[in-house]
Amino acid sequence: MPDHPLEPLFAEEIAAAAACIRAQAGLDPNSFFETITLDEPSRAERAAFNDSGTVPPRRAYVCCYERASNRTFRGRVDLDQDKLLSWEHVPGVQARIPPDEFDASDKIAKADPRVVEALAKRGITDLDTVLIETWAPGNFGIEGEEGKRIAYCHCWVINDAGDNRYGRPIANLHPVMDLAAGTVLRVDDFGVVPLPPDTAAIRPSEGLRDDVKPLNITQPEGPSFEIDGYAVRWQRWNVRVGFDLREGLVLHDIGYEDGGRLRPIMNRASMAEMVVPYGDPTGGNFRRNAFDTGEYGIGTALDSLKLGCDCLGHIHYFDVCAHDWDGKPAAIRNAVCMHEEDFGLLWKHTDSHTGKFRAVRSRRLVISSIATIGNYVYGFFWYFYQDGTIGTEIKATGIPFPTAVPPGEQPKYGALIAPGIASHVHQHSFNFRFDMCVDGPENAVREQDFEAAPLGPDNPHGNAVNIFERPLSRESEAAREIDIARSRSWKIVNTSQTNSLGQHTAYRLVPGQNTLPYLQPESPVAQRAGFMFKHFWATQYDPEQLYPAGWFPNQHPGGDGLPRWVEADRSLEDEDVVVWYTMNFHHLPRPEDWPVQPVVYASLHWMPEGFFDQNPALDLPPHAITS
Ligand code: CO
Repeated sequence: MPDHPLEPLFAEEIAAAAACIRAQAGLDPNSFFETITLDEPSRAERAAFNDSGTVPPRRAYVCCYERASNRTFRGRVDLDQDKLLSWEHVPGVQARIPPDEFDASDKIAKADPRVVEALAKRGITDLDTVLIETWAPGNFGIEGEEGKRIAYCHCWVINDAGDNRYGRPIANLHPVMDLAAGTVLRVDDFGVVPLPPDTAAIRPSEGLRDDVKPLNITQPEGPSFEIDGYAVRWQRWNVRVGFDLREGLVLHDIGYEDGGRLRPIMNRASMAEMVVPYGDPTGGNFRRNAFDTGEYGIGTALDSLKLGCDCLGHIHYFDVCAHDWDGKPAAIRNAVCMHEEDFGLLWKHTDSHTGKFRAVRSRRLVISSIATIGNYVYGFFWYFYQDGTIGTEIKATGIPFPTAVPPGEQPKYGALIAPGIASHVHQHSFNFRFDMCVDGPENAVREQDFEAAPLGPDNPHGNAVNIFERPLSRESEAAREIDIARSRSWKIVNTSQTNSLGQHTAYRLVPGQNTLPYLQPESPVAQRAGFMFKHFWATQYDPEQLYPAGWFPNQHPGGDGLPRWVEADRSLEDEDVVVWYTMNFHHLPRPEDWPVQPVVYASLHWMPEGFFDQNPALDLPPHAITS
């Protein structure tokens, strides 16, 4: 039995859900399980549990793909009663591509004589050195593909050192898979490009620098956090670690203890969808636009973290359980990492007359996961600070997608990153979902802009700055873009709660580095990823609206998700508000990103604004840096 209704599904529960579907859903036995994950309790069930301890039924959300009929089904299982609660065929959609299906195509493609011949034409005869990778194909209306479950493959030869499967790209060769049939539908061959020279070794065997001395972080009295199952308490912060097979790391019930009461801030926070459209229109390259969450799944791709891999000091790991396509549980040990990090100065004041100063150091709680998806590695990091700030950061590393170019040729839509190797311009677009509850369930949305005031009798010296704050009262008004010229940001307020100054308590979303998509809105990928075109969205809570590109982006014709939902134009004034934030990270790879890319960072912050009466971190002990 779980200790709390939001605990991720256990292995036994996943197995029981799969058995229930097999026995009761009437599927062809050759079907596979796309998703078995916790069906989170409803708002009402959560309230009943918090108020009176009434434990809601334990449920699983399950999605299956039936190969025999090329149909996708989904529903919910009551795990307490071993009973199928609902089961429906979802017409016209394709399930995600689970890791087993992703891996299976390599073998199928290599057994096809057309693929063998195309490789031989390029002088490649040792198939064991070849990687044929399965990519979700998008939806480009290409003849012969409609109605089929398709994958569009890309090919590489492993480097001589054997540590980089993407080391030597085979350009212009794309087996197109019919995944339901388990066959190669056709082979797209846009012409031979010579294999680039081998420059791909990731682990040099000699020449390692010898001047890196040990740097140890010790916490002789242990960590400052307390853990109860998946619930965490640290420096007034309360947060519950959760897991979703599709989103990976999820945080629940984020709140701050203030004056003896726990003040809620967010019900749930997650990175809910991402897409990486590449900017090369030639050959088969236009088909590269990975929705890593909705087409593949982040939760199934989490690394099992080891001490020293990313964090230093006292680390607590949380285990989660994923599953394979047969519905067999697959535990991921150490999937979520938690530790404390010194973060330099938090605040300082020096009395210039006496020279006395007081300063305190900042510390943050870090909760993170790392997912490996093909060539790329994404770190999902959440930070909690002692001054009430919440941060989230993406760390992107791994191997930038390499393709081969003929000797002497400069890529038009990318950069040369090694001899004979180009990497195309692309964007990593992340959409975060924040289910807000700032000081209570009913919130409202405000946008703030700044502008130089015009010269006039009120502003004779031209220094006046106008501060504009306006309500975004409806969904149609709340789809917004960042505006650097106006220092634009957004605030979630509780209009029924005030601080001691009479201001409504609030949290402000402070954007970090961002840009807009470099995509024509008519393009098939833009149609499927409409969320990219606005940085800020707000919607009224709906339990079915979890993923900003919809439930089934794989091969979807487009138009689902946020752009469609906000057509309902629901009220956002003193309502149950969900905020969605898009972070577009633009990327033209460099030679320094080869053969493995140093981490690049993209982040955003939520800062308390009038949530507290004054600096909430005045009470920090001074530690070593006071006088
Ligand atoms: Co990139």
